[in-house]
Amino acid sequence: MGAMESTLDSLTQLSSSPAFSSSSSSSSSSSSSSSSSSKETHSSSKTNPKRRPSSTKHDREQQQQQEQKPNLRRPKLVHRNVTRFYEIPFGPYRRPEDVLRSFGYELIRELDRGAYGVVYIAHDLRKEMKVACKQIEMDRTFHRNVFEENKNELLTIERVRHPYVIKVYCHFVVQGNGFNRMYIFMALADGGNLYKFIRNRNTLITEEKCRLYFAQILCGINHMHSVGIAHRDIKPQNVLLCSNRNSISGDYLLVVTDFGLSKVVTDQQQLAMSICGTPVFMAPELLQSKPYNPFAADVWALGITLFQMLSMELPFNFHQPQEFIIQSMMDKKIAWESAFRKTRQQPSNEYKQLVRSMLNPDSNRRIRMINITNHPWIVREYAMAESTSRSLRSSMRSHHHH
Ligand SMILES: Nc1ncnc2c1ncn2[C@@H]1O[C@H](COP(=O)(O)OP(=O)(O)O)[C@@H](O)[C@H]1O
Ligand SMILES: [Mg+2]
Repeated sequence: MGAMESTLDSLTQLSSSPAFSSSSSSSSSSSSSSSSSSKETHSSSKTNPKRRPSSTKHDREQQQQQEQKPNLRRPKLVHRNVTRFYEIPFGPYRRPEDVLRSFGYELIRELDRGAYGVVYIAHDLRKEMKVACKQIEMDRTFHRNVFEENKNELLTIERVRHPYVIKVYCHFVVQGNGFNRMYIFMALADGGNLYKFIRNRNTLITEEKCRLYFAQILCGINHMHSVGIAHRDIKPQNVLLCSNRNSISGDYLLVVTDFGLSKVVTDQQQLAMSICGTPVFMAPELLQSKPYNPFAADVWALGITLFQMLSMELPFNFHQPQEFIIQSMMDKKIAWESAFRKTRQQPSNEYKQLVRSMLNPDSNRRIRMINITNHPWIVREYAMAESTSRSLRSSMRSHHHH
């Protein structure tokens, strides 16, 4: 989860732009917002932000008035490394919504849920556009050190900008009374996730389409691997569709989401999750709790994903005890017959050969990313995806400079 591609500037933006100044520089932020504030906001809270009575009548009125405004001052920044932690203080910030509004965002409605987060459509009040906001309830007892330890990875994720990786605008943690909640603001994918997209169609996608979609996923994952980040949760639900006629498939740009932050946010929750969640995308070495190479595990998950994209079935029978599941993986018993019985077309031999090499139970012999991208089944589409990615990236850059 926690897929992060963000702009370089989302890091700098938070600290440099006046609209984003934290309360540690409250004098500048209050002066910058005072032009749009009414007289009532000239209150004790400005002159003396630390000690103010919280329940006078005057305050309540003032609070109500402030709730109407997007220009609330930043709540108190209590900790930062890459992730900023804001504490909901006394005063106008009674609810997380108020904190979000002070960042210029408003949640509109729930869009979907995953295993860890609730995703909302949100309104970016300054840019006046719709964005997505993922909200993750974190362990109450979580340690900020976890963020510290993964600082480099977080930094990398925040800096990645790639057409096949979701664009993350900013993320921060709001700490209230008894809860820690992470918010991740990112581009809104209008086509939803790939799993629902295929399931809601009347027919399965063709092998041709599958190549064009898979090439984009591969390109996004390959890029993250090249900067040293494994995804760890690859599956069609974590691939989003964004309408784009310039994509190689002519309909959608496929973007990978739910990256990296998984490590940070969910490690402590992982145990509980894996007991109830179906481990259908997990490589056998993970199921056996062996030490594993996360990049090879990503390749396995990509193999399951590729199988599911074309058949909407799974390659192994997961309705059996785990030891039998692992055994059928070890025996390379891929359920071609049952999965493709109802489909109109039989998959090509090249497709089957590629899936087989990705689902090699021996992680050392499992096909490597570089060899997937060179595989005859996908090599042409992959090259197309790469070249589209290059042109999209350069246009993203020039957009940005204007
Ligand atoms: N940026 C987005 N745009 C549109 N839908 C999204 C976006 N991010 C997530 N979703 C939807 O919400 C679901 C859950 O999001 P995800 O980030 O995968 O959370 P989790 O970590 O809980 O799995 C996705 O499968 C997708 O349907
Ligand atoms: Mg997910």
